[in-house]
Amino acid sequence: MAEATPPEAAAPAAPAAEAEEQVVNPWEVKTGSNQGIDYDKLIRQFGSSKVSPELLERFERLTGKPPHRFLRRGVFFSHRDLSSILDAYEKKEPFYLYTGRGPSSQSMHLGHLIPFIFTKYLQDAFNVPLVVQLTDDEKFLWKNLTAEECHDLAYKNAKDIIACGFDVDKTFIFSDFDYMGSCPDFYRNVVKVQKCVTLNQARAIFGFADTDCIGKVSFPAIQAVPAFSTSFPDIFGREKNVKKVKCLIPCAIDQDPYFRMTRDVAHRLGHCKPALIHSTFFPALQGSQTKMSASDGNSSIFLTDTAKQIQKKVNKEAFSGGRVSVEEHRKYGGDTTVDVAYKYLTFFLDDDAKLQQIKEDYEAGRMLTGELKKELIGVLQAMVAEHQERRATVTDELLKQFMTPRPLCRAA
Ligand code: TRP
Repeated sequence: MAEATPPEAAAPAAPAAEAEEQVVNPWEVKTGSNQGIDYDKLIRQFGSSKVSPELLERFERLTGKPPHRFLRRGVFFSHRDLSSILDAYEKKEPFYLYTGRGPSSQSMHLGHLIPFIFTKYLQDAFNVPLVVQLTDDEKFLWKNLTAEECHDLAYKNAKDIIACGFDVDKTFIFSDFDYMGSCPDFYRNVVKVQKCVTLNQARAIFGFADTDCIGKVSFPAIQAVPAFSTSFPDIFGREKNVKKVKCLIPCAIDQDPYFRMTRDVAHRLGHCKPALIHSTFFPALQGSQTKMSASDGNSSIFLTDTAKQIQKKVNKEAFSGGRVSVEEHRKYGGDTTVDVAYKYLTFFLDDDAKLQQIKEDYEAGRMLTGELKKELIGVLQAMVAEHQERRATVTDELLKQFMTPRPLCRAA
């Protein structure tokens, strides 16, 4: 089918004039503003669409599920073709979810949880299969780790992902190193995508340099193909109409370049363009100029942190929107637009009324920074402790089940 619209991948990664202020690509997220990334600007730059109140209403009407707080509060704020997935759901046509993680650290942090918490909610709301790609190959190419270490990290991270509550009857988690070698259909799709994208195009989308190894240049095809149902014959079968099974990808918006490329080649390979729903970034403890990063231990709260460590990090590191003295704070109030503890509460405190009360009290100076941080510490300690409990119950046997290619239950 001929493409009427100009290729999305051609959208410039960052126009020169704006590049100084904010940089968003799969390898770097930073801005000069302590209020964080300008997400409206990003939507304009990338050419995606805003998640509108009408779209949320339709989502609620069709699934009968109230919108997740990540939707109510604009954490998942941008999309591509989400309505096509809602159409499919309405018409009872099959589709699946695809998300992933690059396993580069022993322990995942709070920011890594965001897409998985949301994907679990979508799996429950839609009752559809999910595939989770662990890009151990990607991390080997980009980081100073051995292939064996990356593979091992994939398995460790898979346990944390399973602990988010995914349904084993509907979820397939795979390491690229394992699956690429065992599934010819997957590898065939990788090579088909590689043939569709020129070096010029890959450069324009990802900014590769002449000194980058060729592994990096060819990797995007590997992240692309889980968006095509024919890459999973054990799940979807081998019949011709499998190509009609649509895909929805929840991810942080820095992953969009991969999927602009995927969407550009989809029709040429006889597949539907995958739909996307994008999240904002989870800010570093030190402020919203960057996202939380596992390579900077002080900027992160890890899922392995103890209650004490959480308390210490929040109290010591979390950038505050409070005033310099208690007197000034009482008089002028705190600034929730830059306060990291407040921002974290918007991600993890589910109670809308309570969050609103905290906002009003803090901005009016009735609540002090220490009190705000105490609220956050309580929420995080409970959440991390629950995660640790669930992770402790994930046996190697269960892990193996999740990671075995097999048919998955589909929506009735
Ligand atoms: N590249 C991603 C990372 O480094 C991992 C990933 C692979 C992914 N496939 C994905 C993320 C699909 C979101 C959706 O973390």
